[in-house]
Amino acid sequence: MCGIFGCILQKNEASSTIHSGLKMLEYRGYDSVGIATIENGQLTIKKDSGKIDEVHEAHDLDDLPGRLGIGHTRWATHGAPYQVNAHPHTDCKNEIAVVHNGIIENFAELKTELEEFGHKFRSKTDTEIIAHLIEEYVKKGFIFVDAVRETVKRLDGSYAIAVIYTKEPDKIVCVRKESPLVLGIAEDGLYVASDIPAFLSKTNKSVIIEDGELIILSDLGIEIRNISNWQPVIREPETIDWEPEMAEKQGYSHFMLKEIHEQPLRLRNTLRLQDKYLELMTTFLDRAGEVFLVACGTSYHACLAASYLFSKLSFLATHPVIASEFVEQHGKSVNIDSTLLVVSQSGETADTLEAVESARLRAATVLGLTNVVGSTLTRVARVYICQQSGPEIGVAATKTFTCQLSVLAQLAVRLAKKRGKISHVEIEDIEEKLERIPDIVECTIKGQEENVKAIAKKYKGKPAFFFLGRGISSSVALEGKLKLMEISYIPSLAYPAGESKHGPISLIEPGFPVVFVCPQGDTHRSIIGNIMEMKARGASIIAIIEKGDQEIKELADDYVEVDSGLPELLTPIPFSVPLQLFAYYMALERDNDPDKPRNLAKSVTVK
Ligand code: AGP
Repeated sequence: MCGIFGCILQKNEASSTIHSGLKMLEYRGYDSVGIATIENGQLTIKKDSGKIDEVHEAHDLDDLPGRLGIGHTRWATHGAPYQVNAHPHTDCKNEIAVVHNGIIENFAELKTELEEFGHKFRSKTDTEIIAHLIEEYVKKGFIFVDAVRETVKRLDGSYAIAVIYTKEPDKIVCVRKESPLVLGIAEDGLYVASDIPAFLSKTNKSVIIEDGELIILSDLGIEIRNISNWQPVIREPETIDWEPEMAEKQGYSHFMLKEIHEQPLRLRNTLRLQDKYLELMTTFLDRAGEVFLVACGTSYHACLAASYLFSKLSFLATHPVIASEFVEQHGKSVNIDSTLLVVSQSGETADTLEAVESARLRAATVLGLTNVVGSTLTRVARVYICQQSGPEIGVAATKTFTCQLSVLAQLAVRLAKKRGKISHVEIEDIEEKLERIPDIVECTIKGQEENVKAIAKKYKGKPAFFFLGRGISSSVALEGKLKLMEISYIPSLAYPAGESKHGPISLIEPGFPVVFVCPQGDTHRSIIGNIMEMKARGASIIAIIEKGDQEIKELADDYVEVDSGLPELLTPIPFSVPLQLFAYYMALERDNDPDKPRNLAKSVTVK
């Protein structure tokens, strides 16, 4: 889950360009960083452990010579985040430099083989074997490009790599297998990166690279080859309708806060998605024998909420499944009548793609909901919808969650309409309510941000939290818990409130904070019962309530009002926003960086 970046420019500005490109990829990994450039046949490398700003402070990452280079920001998988394990990695003679995102599964046996040929390894990483393997093929007389080709044929696992070589100092050779890789074409040069925001300030002209392709970037332009048959691949650039500032903080102190405030705008985008894809996806869902809603983390919470929407609105039973358990839980029962609705903001999450692959092998239909055009999910799905939330840089998903919920709710309403399960009056009413959600979220942020900030301050010393909800709100409780744990590192539990008395309530003691998600609707009466049982044991009650909910106001120690007027099934969108803000301000209270939580990365591209 690292970020790789490379460029070949007209001017000698490669290192500063790579530095700023890596800054835009820092959400993918930030425990060490490095840059390599070539000039006058010499390789210059600067790398160290730590965040980019810290390494730049110590080593000046803008001060490497040359107009061609590669860089890397790391999320350690093999070898602890020490300087020696930071990328780029080189061969024995420091002529070949490699940056890599992914995991080489057979690196140990390749390393033994290379050590028998006399290669000396400096690091504990899987990546370093790539540099030595290329060196070995060059020694055998292969030209640079062919040496890279022969090398990747020996690699098992996932990889996006970029390689430079002092003996052929006018090109960057890149290869993609499973890990994301995109090219950028600009006036001042050519770019390769793990993600589009890295070169968005230079160009929005992007060429998506497919698995099993090798790319040569040089002053002659871009050459793409299919590694297995070595056939040239001609692919037109796509224009990405993202503005550079969309990938910047725009005056907010963190990307996460900016992205929370972006939600009204992005939610309006989800209400203007192309009808034909929504309709096509609805048709596939209508015809499906059985439907699995598959995802990880926050996206799984959107799937869980969707299972209530599909059941209660469209009378469609679905199976929400955590992707990393899909193969074990359903792998054997999936068949040609099965349909997977797969949700992934990045479209690159390895656990999710593995579930997809296992289902496709059994002829199941795969539908995709993602935020990244050109991501792997968009290429393996029969039909996909791009939710138009703009780039999400903060590791903690916020705007992509609420936008996923909006799209999934629209699909459930369309399916209900197609199946004639609810009256036209009800459909019009729900559609009218969906249209109002962006404004409701806007008012909630404006009206409650300071209140939530104060509540976070009040509870900052608490050692643990519970998040409870009933019905569809149990998915919001799970999301609130995940947000808090991700960025404030406070151990927390979330579960359907009815489960308390079956165990978790034993943890409750005076002052133990319990966050309740309690919109008006079918579950309101029973959630009050759950609040009472917690209050009876001295818990501190923090409640997310509908505006004017006097009953719960009197029970709660603190509350956040959402003026929604929405049916319960649509409340997860506005009711999750105060929990996003709560986690954000709690992280600040604990001096954590909300954008770069420890041990995490934005797109989990390894299994
Ligand atoms: C959420 O804040 C986390 N970043 C993480 O749980 C994330 O939702 C999960 O890794 C799934 O990512 P995806 O939506 O890109 O597949």
